[in-house]
Amino acid sequence: MTSRSYAEYEAMFDLTELPESVLDCCAGGAGFTAEAAARGVDAVAVDPAYELPGAELVDTVRRSLPAGSGIVDHHAASFVWHWYGSPERRDELRIDAADRFLTDVAEAPDRYVPGSLPELPFPDQRFELVLSSHLLFTWADKYDRAWHLAALNELIRVSRSEVRIFPLVKQGAGDPVEFLPSLLEELDGVRSEIRKVPYEFQVGADEMLVLTR
Ligand SMILES: C[S@@+](CC[C@H](N)C(=O)[O-])C[C@H]1O[C@@H](n2cnc3c(N)ncnc32)[C@H](O)[C@@H]1O
Repeated sequence: MTSRSYAEYEAMFDLTELPESVLDCCAGGAGFTAEAAARGVDAVAVDPAYELPGAELVDTVRRSLPAGSGIVDHHAASFVWHWYGSPERRDELRIDAADRFLTDVAEAPDRYVPGSLPELPFPDQRFELVLSSHLLFTWADKYDRAWHLAALNELIRVSRSEVRIFPLVKQGAGDPVEFLPSLLEELDGVRSEIRKVPYEFQVGADEMLVLTR
């Protein structure tokens, strides 16, 4: 359950301006929703982990910080540092993001909704923009093609305009997801585009999927 920062989201999703409403789906301990809400956006985060009692959520988020750095140390050849500059800068961003998340969950719990793909607890077209980082495709070794198709259709259902997903490779060595091209052909009524972004950490993971209604 990672805690990426607003700056990482901006780069991963090549965001310039935010629309009036945004969903972060599988938000984990990310600081994006807190920061977007502070900027006046109707921002909502959804994640199954928000079912956890408060103290357990705090503990999970805090424990995930060193665990995440440990994975990076262990697979050093799978990562590049040109975006972060240094491991210290990455740690700093993640710790700040976790603090931001934990403060906001305590102050504005309604923004943090428990829920799981492929069935989200929101009405059709509730959000102008839907973002999803490091769940779909990343966990293609855990979730199969059928799950991905259902999850993509669910993200499209709750979006009014656009869905953006990053990254498009599997966790670990960053292998491509074999079923991605055929999956996109099965989506009904949306335009799909794979777009380069100004962010790379996992080697070769510098593209997002944009689905437009
Ligand atoms: C690697 S974290 C990414 C968190 C955040 N997006 C970020 O970039 O820091 C993946 C998150 O997906 C959540 N998750 C796992 N299965 C899920 C599902 N079926 N639907 C929605 N979220 C799920 C986990 O609880 C975890 O918080």
